[in-house]
Amino acid sequence: MNEQSSGQAASAVRSAAVTVDVPAKINPHLGVGDARADGYHALSTVYQSISLYDTITVERREEPGIELSVSGEGAGILPTCDENLAARAAKLMAIYGGVEPAVRLHLNKRIPVAGGLAGGSADAAAALVACSRLWGIEIGDAELHRLAAGLGSDVPFCLKGGTAVGSGRGEELRHVDSLGTWHWVVATTDMQISTPECFKEVDRLREDGIGRFSSDVEPIVQAFEAGVGAEELAHLLVNDMEAAAVSLRPQLASLMHGGLAEGALAAHVSGSGPTVLFLASDMKHSVALARRLRMRGGARSIHLARGPVPGPAA
Ligand code: C5P
Repeated sequence: MNEQSSGQAASAVRSAAVTVDVPAKINPHLGVGDARADGYHALSTVYQSISLYDTITVERREEPGIELSVSGEGAGILPTCDENLAARAAKLMAIYGGVEPAVRLHLNKRIPVAGGLAGGSADAAAALVACSRLWGIEIGDAELHRLAAGLGSDVPFCLKGGTAVGSGRGEELRHVDSLGTWHWVVATTDMQISTPECFKEVDRLREDGIGRFSSDVEPIVQAFEAGVGAEELAHLLVNDMEAAAVSLRPQLASLMHGGLAEGALAAHVSGSGPTVLFLASDMKHSVALARRLRMRGGARSIHLARGPVPGPAA
């Protein structure tokens, strides 16, 4: 291949617009250890992607700068300036690739905002993937992981998707080959819980002797690898942040009890909340459970989701 044709090949890789779908994450196991010297908490977690997606579209623009627009759920409350994690991800990728950041990002949000489903981290992961494709930047897995970890603890997993064990502050990942599909009803609420506030509440409760670090992820990892039924999985769900979330927003407890009364196999706070996940036995059960939860009221919105699903780079 001569220089001219290799140049043509390189420009052919750069597209005018790229669209990437990215799933939300849940933590079927979320073990929280002590606060570290850097302020982060040691985590021993299992992440799983579920079928609630945001879509990011990136396209070139003539003028330099990053422009961001948002549509869909929570569009009005998300920052559209440089504070937005997706815009920061685009800027990081431009710096890494040595290209001028002249790009328009559009986020179509279907992942409930500020719910403990890592919507912001998912958007950042998708922005890294989409911008590298738009600008034809060759980047290896290790470098992509490093950029993602710099944006947030959940961003590396959001790049990968599927099922993975997370350690460190959540950014060190080990892939898990999960054999089954599990069905969830996702109930969002109007209560707001900030992630740092919830971690502080975990620390406070621990000082009072409440709660301990659930560091052993192996039982649930083996269950995912074996493809156990939902009834078995229901007994293995762990969230060390759940007591803290309920302590901060006691109304969460009545939502959780309501779902169990309607037949959910388990009620599980998603991450630091306030979204609650209800485990169903299969898809048919999840549809019926969602209908009953909508009639019961008490949630802001009810969604159906299955997991695991592949991540944005798949
Ligand atoms: O990593 P990320 O920016 O998403 O974290 C948001 C906040 O959540 C951190 O500033 C920290 O207060 C808290 N956090 C923590 N331990 C972790 C992850 C997050 O204390 N492992």
